[in-house]
Amino acid sequence: MTEQRLALVTGANRGIGLEVARQLGRRGLKVWMGVRDFDRSAAAENGLKAEGYDVERLVLDVASDESVATASSHLADSGGRLDVLVNNAGVALDSGVEPSKVSLDLARTTFEVNVFGCIRVTQAFLPLLRRSPAGRVVMVSSDMGSHGRQTDPAFPYAHLNPMIYISSKAALNAVTIAFAKELRGTPIKINAANPGFTATDLNQHRGLNTVEQGAAPIVELATLADDGPTGVFLGPDGPEPW
Ligand SMILES: NC(=O)c1ccc[n+]([C@@H]2O[C@H](COP(=O)([O-])OP(=O)(O)OC[C@H]3O[C@@H](n4cnc5c(N)ncnc54)[C@H](OP(=O)(O)O)[C@@H]3O)[C@@H](O)[C@H]2O)c1
Repeated sequence: MTEQRLALVTGANRGIGLEVARQLGRRGLKVWMGVRDFDRSAAAENGLKAEGYDVERLVLDVASDESVATASSHLADSGGRLDVLVNNAGVALDSGVEPSKVSLDLARTTFEVNVFGCIRVTQAFLPLLRRSPAGRVVMVSSDMGSHGRQTDPAFPYAHLNPMIYISSKAALNAVTIAFAKELRGTPIKINAANPGFTATDLNQHRGLNTVEQGAAPIVELATLADDGPTGVFLGPDGPEPW
């Protein structure tokens, strides 16, 4: 019998993260649902359990060294291995704010979650991923962070210019490539996913994709076969330009 694969999804209490947890659960993985607020996330865990999935909440604030260290110790103590890490937690705080007017405090808060949070969590869980025969890491990025899309006048969201969100996801793309270079030659694959414009709280549910559609490229990268790629950027319609 093959061992059950273990996944951790950050920001799994709502939105795309919740749907990724559901889809990984449907594929038979045990999913640790990273949540900032344990009590407020009970309904999310109970909902997935009622659907028959093997899920469990784990307190994890990606912006806190202490919280991430506590969460990784907890997983180290209960199994000591991680097969899939989905760095999904993210914030978008400067929608509609001009680059010339945005505050550096807002920039620091955004980067603390969208960039440093992904680095912090990946570094903390890498020892557990190294114990997996087939580790998979997915950075949930955005086509908004793609230089290729942002410099294409035909990009449907070219008129939107949230500089801090855009630059945080561009930085995350660079982080993905750097980790992939370091881990090349190991069983760990690390890739970036673009869910596309997806209806969630992040955009007051104005997105055009459902969470099911948004989660699809993330789950695809999280469950890649051994001959799958590393260091790529995948969206709902295939490869994205960096
Ligand atoms: N929706 C889109 O159109 C779209 C498009 C491209 C990329 N994305 C990316 O997809 C990811 C998920 O976004 P979403 O649309 O599902 O947004 P969402 O519904 O607003 O959910 C964001 C999630 O991130 C969590 N989070 C925020 N800060 C955190 C922190 N410091 N530590 C741990 N968790 C934290 C939130 O937890 P709380 O409930 O505790 O706040 C929540 O679970 C993000 O990285 C986003 O940038 C979304």
